[in-house]
Amino acid sequence: MKVLLTGTSSGLGSELCSFFLDRGDTVLGISRKTTKKNGNQQRDTDERFTFLACDLGSEEQIQTAVSELSNKNINFDAVVLNAAAIEDDLIDGKLDYAKLKKIFEINVLGNMNLLAGVLPLVRQRGAIVAVSSLSVILDLSRRRCAYPASKAALNCIFDAFRLKMSGQYRFITVNLGRLGNQAKLPFQVSYRQAASKIIRLIETESASEVINFPWTVSYASRILRHLPPAFSRKYLSD
Ligand SMILES: NC(=O)c1ccc[n+]([C@@H]2O[C@H](COP(=O)([O-])OP(=O)(O)OC[C@H]3O[C@@H](n4cnc5c(N)ncnc54)[C@H](OP(=O)(O)O)[C@@H]3O)[C@@H](O)[C@H]2O)c1
Repeated sequence: MKVLLTGTSSGLGSELCSFFLDRGDTVLGISRKTTKKNGNQQRDTDERFTFLACDLGSEEQIQTAVSELSNKNINFDAVVLNAAAIEDDLIDGKLDYAKLKKIFEINVLGNMNLLAGVLPLVRQRGAIVAVSSLSVILDLSRRRCAYPASKAALNCIFDAFRLKMSGQYRFITVNLGRLGNQAKLPFQVSYRQAASKIIRLIETESASEVINFPWTVSYASRILRHLPPAFSRKYLSD
């Protein structure tokens, strides 16, 4: 399988990249930092891994990346839009507009700009995956509002794609709960578990196109969102 994967330099993207390569897939990875600086030197020697430095907050860099990809004449089986700015924009109760703008520029506009450019390079019925978040159902962090909103916007766009472009590609939305490799919170999912889930979804033609993982957190979030905001603020917010 030939995969275009964003956000390969750390976290879930790094894990996904290793997972794909271990299976024998070919990965074209995009992020700002080279993998070298992130302790993943072995990838630089793996001939099935190609790295393209690109800041998804820069239209110019995205255009350059798209031209480079088009020149490579690759036919992708899957595109995984994993890169995201996971940042706070409510600092000491004040809204940081510059941060909010940056979060939307990367998580929504940058991803869509890249996707618009690479869609013609994706094979018929290829999988396009939006790595999203269960925070679209309920986000209890006191320090952010733009991040869950940006993921909700991404999900809306993918809902529209499924309605309007179905047949051509498989558009998959994966809403993930809290990730991490050192379990600090109940129901936290490891990067490995999330990566394995995403790869299974890509491989399974008949899989659901909107997935909430883990389902326990998804159900709990759906119930908790009906609580009065004052209660959630006092007892649940972190
Ligand atoms: N962590 C969680 O608890 C959690 C929960 C639910 C969903 N998710 C979703 O899972 C995905 C991966 O999260 P993660 O925890 O692995 O995050 P992470 O460790 O912060 O990794 C984010 C990746 O995105 C890349 N990136 C960020 N800004 C970029 C930009 N302007 N241009 C290009 N690449 C950029 C980063 O690379 P560079 O810095 O090198 O550019 C990095 O490789 C995200 O979509 C996130 O929303 C995460």
